[in-house]
Amino acid sequence: MQLPSLYLLMIRSKSSLFFVRNLSAMLSGKIALASALLLSIVSCAPLASEQWVANSPSFSLAPSLLDISITELTALLNDSIITSRDLVQLYLDRIAEVNDELHAVLEISDTALRVAAQRDRERHAGLIRGNLHGIPIIVKDNYATTDGMLTGAGSVCLAKSLPSIEATVVAKLRAAGAIIIGKANLAEFSGGRGNSTTTGWSPRGNQTYGAYVKHQTACGSSSGSGVSASLGLAAGTLGTETAGSITCPAFVNNVVGIKPTVGLTSRFGVVPLTARQDTTGPIVQSVADGALMLEIMAGKDERDNYTLAQPWEKPPRYMDALNMSALVGKRVGAVFWAETAFGNINHSFALNRAHIDKVFSVALDDLRAAGANVIEVELGIKGIPFANSTMELRESFSYQKPDFAEGMARYMSDLMPDLETPHTVAELLECIKTDPAEFGDEVDYSSIESIAQTNKTAGSCESWEAYSKATALSRRLLTEPMEELGLDAIVTIMTTAIVLASAPGLPIITVPMGSLPPEAETVWNPEDKLIEGAPGFPLGLSFVADQWSEFELLGMAYAYEQVSKKRGALRPHVVPTKDLEEIMRGWREDL
Ligand SMILES: *[C@@H]1O[C@H](CO)[C@@H](O)[C@H](O)[C@H]1NC(C)=O
Ligand SMILES: *[C@@H]1O[C@H](CO)[C@@H](O)[C@H](O)[C@H]1NC(C)=O
Ligand SMILES: *[C@@H]1O[C@H](CO)[C@@H](O)[C@H](O)[C@H]1NC(C)=O
Ligand SMILES: *[C@@H]1O[C@H](CO)[C@@H](O)[C@H](O)[C@H]1NC(C)=O
Ligand SMILES: *[C@@H]1O[C@H](CO)[C@@H](O)[C@H](O)[C@H]1NC(C)=O
Ligand SMILES: *[C@@H]1O[C@H](CO)[C@@H](O)[C@H](O)[C@H]1NC(C)=O
Ligand SMILES: *[C@@H]1O[C@H](CO)[C@@H](O)[C@H](O)[C@H]1NC(C)=O
Ligand SMILES: *[C@@H]1O[C@H](CO)[C@@H](O)[C@H](O)[C@H]1NC(C)=O
Repeated sequence: MQLPSLYLLMIRSKSSLFFVRNLSAMLSGKIALASALLLSIVSCAPLASEQWVANSPSFSLAPSLLDISITELTALLNDSIITSRDLVQLYLDRIAEVNDELHAVLEISDTALRVAAQRDRERHAGLIRGNLHGIPIIVKDNYATTDGMLTGAGSVCLAKSLPSIEATVVAKLRAAGAIIIGKANLAEFSGGRGNSTTTGWSPRGNQTYGAYVKHQTACGSSSGSGVSASLGLAAGTLGTETAGSITCPAFVNNVVGIKPTVGLTSRFGVVPLTARQDTTGPIVQSVADGALMLEIMAGKDERDNYTLAQPWEKPPRYMDALNMSALVGKRVGAVFWAETAFGNINHSFALNRAHIDKVFSVALDDLRAAGANVIEVELGIKGIPFANSTMELRESFSYQKPDFAEGMARYMSDLMPDLETPHTVAELLECIKTDPAEFGDEVDYSSIESIAQTNKTAGSCESWEAYSKATALSRRLLTEPMEELGLDAIVTIMTTAIVLASAPGLPIITVPMGSLPPEAETVWNPEDKLIEGAPGFPLGLSFVADQWSEFELLGMAYAYEQVSKKRGALRPHVVPTKDLEEIMRGWREDL
């Protein structure tokens, strides 16, 4: 193949972004015979080496929704190579292909195609609303929407009552042009239904499964968001996190999860667990997509007074953080797998600890290759081991129940007035007990029951004392070594990151790090009947630092992602077959 003819094709192409990507794929020998022939025909150039083409693995000329970025999709839309309407239809087709097996999405919007056609008309008329104009997005079922879809946090009972107003961050995505095409499955009430419910299960959505290993956990609670991002069932998704609900699904689904500082993004209109820890953030295929969405979501909101604590008038422009050199000269503390007192997670992952540590070591090499100075850190306060510290933490979460009770009561008071549907936690509990669609006979609902009965208040001295104790302890576990060693961030495994960041509301960015090797043990969680470790099971690297450090973390995560390139190296066992090639026919004729 002669380079000049490829170059010519690029110039003739309407979408240079896309072709630059495919050019580099071709140069690394990844083009199929058919595509090469097509190129040779359209560019009127002979194939220089038939041998080379014959040796190349199969590769489609069209980009795939498994790895195309939001900016690249926008380029295709800008150049009229695809329309938003076709794109929405394509994502809906992909959902239909895999959802019976994975249950990632629990409701589809029946207005999305109409909205897409509207966005297409606007684009045609030169009106671009923002960086998500005409881009299909899926949001977790705990984000209130008023677009005809229900909002239940997975609960059939809560979904009976309609929100009167949309979640602030959903409204912001729409203002930037996004099309909300569906609601993602989750652990019901983000894990707040009972203390023995299965992660990723909800009455509205059934059991979510990850796509990489059969019967794989998708983790929780933003399980459907993780799977949807991973398989390209939407161009981006929203999750929420209270303690691990973005970080863990990102870890096990080979995707990027951004858990922002509590208060960076509004939680108004989101079914709550505890206002002190809840946060809203994107789960996506790449750090760049995450930065794009976070830039739109971040900012103050009069309806969520935690956001008024932001230390600036306007948040940073997060897309400016995407710098390949962001790790150069940075001091990064590395915390290997550490035992914590948080039962289940430890139990299942512990069996593959040695393998996880090995993959983590490779990640540290990649960080060094990107210019970072990596310093190994052992967490723990003045001789008290990390596991003991976390044991103490575990006992200090008594504020969560009254927070949940008061937050739910406030959320439900904003629902549309309707005497027939639940508007208080007591009515919600009654419905869960009696509506067969909630499986009250089979599935524990003790947490909802105890919040309906709690006499403790979120503002009590007891709650504040518990909260300040939890916050002080976990924040100290992070900031002491960071200050002592002059670190810019800590990198670690999901479980440790969650312990450090949950109570004090610190940010975590998780990036694909590889997978468990062929010799790894297959681990079933005996309670959940889900696989929590196996050969080919995805792993992620989490970046943590003090509050409001998203800009720096995004830069470091991006530089690591660009050097390590792990996401594309791992193939799911379930992949939708419908892809961009189908809707790019017009583009082919154009050539
Ligand atoms: C798409 O078009 C808009 C409006 O012309 C422009 O601002 C934007 O940079 C374009 N984006 C891409 C990725 O081509
Ligand atoms: C679950 O919660 C209930 C009520 O709060 C409690 O009685 C029970 O011991 C808990 N079970 C477990 C396994 O923690
Ligand atoms: C949940 O999914 C399984 C497997 O796809 C199916 O057999 C079962 O009927 C579903 N349950 C409900 C309540 O839809
Ligand atoms: C913050 O908002 C909550 C809920 O809207 C409200 O109950 C609380 O009083 C507010 N706090 C302050 C300091 O404004
Ligand atoms: C990227 O980071 C490097 C190193 O910190 C810095 O010198 C450079 O100016 C940055 N580039 C941009 C475009 O911000
Ligand atoms: C964590 O896992 C290890 C290894 O399986 C086990 O020995 C330990 O008891 C577990 N700790 C907790 C708190 O579950
Ligand atoms: C840590 O916890 C273990 C087991 O709970 C206990 O035996 C040990 O004494 C504790 N160590 C410290 C320093 O508190
Ligand atoms: C809450 O208070 C009521 C009335 O004072 C009492 O009957 C009930 O037992 C209390 N509930 C709990 C969980 O303490």
